[in-house]
Amino acid sequence: METPSNLTDLMDLSSTLAKIETETLERVRNAETIDAIAAVTAETLGKRSVLASHRRGLAEMAPEDRREAGRLLNATIARLGEVIGEKRTALDERLEAQRLDLESVDVTLPGRVPARGSHHVVRQVMDEIVDIFVSIGYSVVTGPEAETDYYSFTALNIPPTHPARMSTDTLYLDYGENPEDVNLRPHTSPMQIRHMEKHDPPVYVVVPGRVFRRDALDPTHSPVFHQVEGLAVDENITFADLKGTLAYFAREFLGAKTKVKFLPHYFPFTEPSAEMHAYANGEWLELLGCGMVNPAVYEHVGYDPETITGFAFGMGVDRMAMVRHGVTDLRHLFDPDVRTLDQYR
Ligand code: PHE
Repeated sequence: METPSNLTDLMDLSSTLAKIETETLERVRNAETIDAIAAVTAETLGKRSVLASHRRGLAEMAPEDRREAGRLLNATIARLGEVIGEKRTALDERLEAQRLDLESVDVTLPGRVPARGSHHVVRQVMDEIVDIFVSIGYSVVTGPEAETDYYSFTALNIPPTHPARMSTDTLYLDYGENPEDVNLRPHTSPMQIRHMEKHDPPVYVVVPGRVFRRDALDPTHSPVFHQVEGLAVDENITFADLKGTLAYFAREFLGAKTKVKFLPHYFPFTEPSAEMHAYANGEWLELLGCGMVNPAVYEHVGYDPETITGFAFGMGVDRMAMVRHGVTDLRHLFDPDVRTLDQYR
């Protein structure tokens, strides 16, 4: 770059300025960022710029040329200053527009819906069953899953030789002195005993809960499943009350037109005993086991079998959930993959 001392006359200065102006305009046109335009400003108009050094060089010019040279220089600086200022404003505006664009909210976009959980279908059906009994005056009680031999079997009049007591059927916990003292309850019936021990009649309770049996997992069996137990003990309760109550339950659960039938059965803790079947979706379904509480059971809890009677029932919740939701394989209910469970909400 030429230095001011080399400028011998105004012609030289004027062509130098024209060249600087052309170059600067080109740089301004190409500047795409605030930083780039700031650099052009500093290099063109700043204290160390070529134009600044030309201004300092004016002092060395012939006095008669100095005024015209100063005018040329100032005009160039003014023009470039204006162009740079315009470009800066344009870049500022563009930046502001980009920022607004980024920060803007598109209210027409679909919202982000949070994934909603729900109770497991077994829990839902269990609640539904319990609610039906609560609506006719039953209370809900729950009990331990680890039980003793006494509550699971003995107090329920199940003889020592009964196959249910065998370790092929019941899961025993290695706890206590005798390896068969403590079991994972194979049914919710132990709560009949626990409740009657602590409460005098009248008793109207349902017991939802988890139960355990030594079964391999297959389409219709699981070592862990769920039951709802029921117990009604009062004065003058008859088998007609049992039938009326359980038929009412079936109609509430499966629909007002549901037909039910009672088939004779055997349970050590009820006498007589029955299975209730219900006609649903074109087939007869075994819904529950039931019967009049065996007087032998009252003896274990200090109730007087001469003055009170009652009925008990127990039903499998998982199978009811399968019927309710059209699940064809019990194992789906225990599949932890939410995509499986999501189908059965
Ligand atoms: N506890 C029985 C079972 O698990 C069901 C039942 C309960 C039967 C109460 C009669 C009375 O199969």
